[in-house]
Amino acid sequence: MADASQDTAQLTYDGKTYNLPVVEGSEGERAIDIRTLRAESGLITLDPGFGNSGSCRSAITYIDGEKGILRYRGYPIEELASHSTFLEVAWLLLYGELPSEAELATFTDEITRHTMLHEDYRRLFDFMPKNAHPMPVAAAAVAALSTFYREADNEDRIHRAVVRLLAKMPTIAAYAYKHSIGQPPTYPKNDLGYCSNFLHMMYATPCEPYAVDPVVAKALDLLLILHADHEQNCSTSTVRLVGSSLSSLFATIASGISALWGPLHGGANQKVIEMLERIADEEGSADVFLKKAKDKDDTTRLMGFGHRVYKSYDPRAAILKETCKGVIERVGGSSQLLEIAMRLEEIALSDSYFVERKLYPNVDFYSGVIYKAIGIPVNMFTVMFTMGRLPGWIAQWLEMRKDSDFRIGRPRQVYTGSAKRAYVPLGKR
Ligand code: ACO
Repeated sequence: MADASQDTAQLTYDGKTYNLPVVEGSEGERAIDIRTLRAESGLITLDPGFGNSGSCRSAITYIDGEKGILRYRGYPIEELASHSTFLEVAWLLLYGELPSEAELATFTDEITRHTMLHEDYRRLFDFMPKNAHPMPVAAAAVAALSTFYREADNEDRIHRAVVRLLAKMPTIAAYAYKHSIGQPPTYPKNDLGYCSNFLHMMYATPCEPYAVDPVVAKALDLLLILHADHEQNCSTSTVRLVGSSLSSLFATIASGISALWGPLHGGANQKVIEMLERIADEEGSADVFLKKAKDKDDTTRLMGFGHRVYKSYDPRAAILKETCKGVIERVGGSSQLLEIAMRLEEIALSDSYFVERKLYPNVDFYSGVIYKAIGIPVNMFTVMFTMGRLPGWIAQWLEMRKDSDFRIGRPRQVYTGSAKRAYVPLGKR
C-alpha cells in the first residue's frame, strides 16, 4: 500500500472540523478512513448497498470498472485465461504467487485424492426433494461438511479444509445433479483432471462410460478461471461478514453460496438463458424485449447487463463472447441463442437508455450460452459459478483472518422507527 499518511480529508459539521486520514491503495485508489468519526463527532456514514464503502484492504483482486480491468494478484485476467489452468489460478489466489511446477503437482495431487465423499455424508442427498434447485442443495451439503470434519484451528488443518472443499465441490455439484434426475452417483476418477472429473461424474452412468471431450473440459476450465474472484461483491462480502464471527470455513462458504444464488448476482446466468430462450420461443424479436427492459412500469431487466462496478465492458464477457463461437462450432450445437444474445448486445449498446446508464454485458451474458452448448443443465449454471468462485471466497477468508485490521463485521444503521412508546396490553389495542 502506498503511503498516504500525510493526506487528510476534512469534514466540517456543526461548527467543528474533523481531520480524517486518507489511505491509498497500490493502484492509487483513495479512501477516507472514518473509523474515528463516530467517537469524535457522533456521526456515522450512510451508504445503502455499500456502493461507495470499502470494507477492507485486500491484495487479491484489482478491478478498474471504468477501464474494464480485472487482475488476480496483479496478473491480467486475459493472460490467465490464455495461459493458465483453474488449479493454478486457485493456488495464485490462495497463496499470492503463481505456483512452481512442484507446488502445482503436489496441490493437484492433494485435490485429486480428496474428491470422494464419505458414504454417510453422501446419503444427505437422498433426503432432498428431487425437484430442489441444486444451489440450496449445494449450500446445505457444504454446510454439512462441518459436521463430518473437525474445526480447522491450526495452519495444517486449515490447509486440509481448503483442499477438501476445493476437491469435494465438483463431487457435491455432480451428486446434487444426479439426485435430481434420479440416477445413482458416479464416483470420481483419479486419472482425470479437475474439470474432466466433474464432467465424468455428471454424465457417466453405471451402464455407460462418458468420454470427456478435451475441448469441453478446457472451456469449462476457462469459465472457472473467469469466475474465480471478483473482490468485495455480494457473496464475497457475505463470506467475509459470516467468517468474521469465526464460524467454520464450511459454514462460511455455505453462506456465500446462498448469496450467490440470487438472480441479481450469480443466479443471473440462469436467468439470461431463460430470457434468450423466451425471446426465441415467444417474442422472437430482441427489440420488443429491450422495450420492456427500458420500461419503468415493467419489472423486466436485460439480464446479464449492468454491473455495480463495471461502467464499461466487463473483460470476462469479452473473453467469453469470443470463446462462445469456437465452442459452438466444435460441439456442433445451435447458434440461435448466441445470435440472439449478440443482437441484444448490438441494439443495447447503441440505445441511449443503456449508453447513458453505462450498462454493458457482464460475465453472465455469455457464460450461459457456453454452458448450454457443452450440455450443462440450466439449473446447474449457478452451481458452475460456485465451483469457479470457491478459491476466491477461500482466499478472501484466509486474508481476512490474518488482517491486522480484523474485527467482527458489524455495520451501523440510521433508525427510522417509532420513538419510545408505552406497551399497550392485548385487549386494549
Ligand atoms: N436492464 C435494464 N435496466 C437496468 C439494468 C438492466 N439489466 N441494470 C440496471 N438498469 C437500470 C436501472 O433500472 C437504473 O435505472 P434508473 O437510474 O433509471 O433508475 C440504472 O440502470 C442503475 O441500476 P441499479 O439497479 O441502480 O444498479 P446497481 O449497481 O444497483 O445494480 C445490477 C447492478 C444488480 C447488476 C443491475 O445492473 C442488474 O440488475 N442487472 C441484471 C442482473 C445481472 O445481470 N446480474 C449479474 C451481475 S454480475 C454478477 O453478479 C456476477
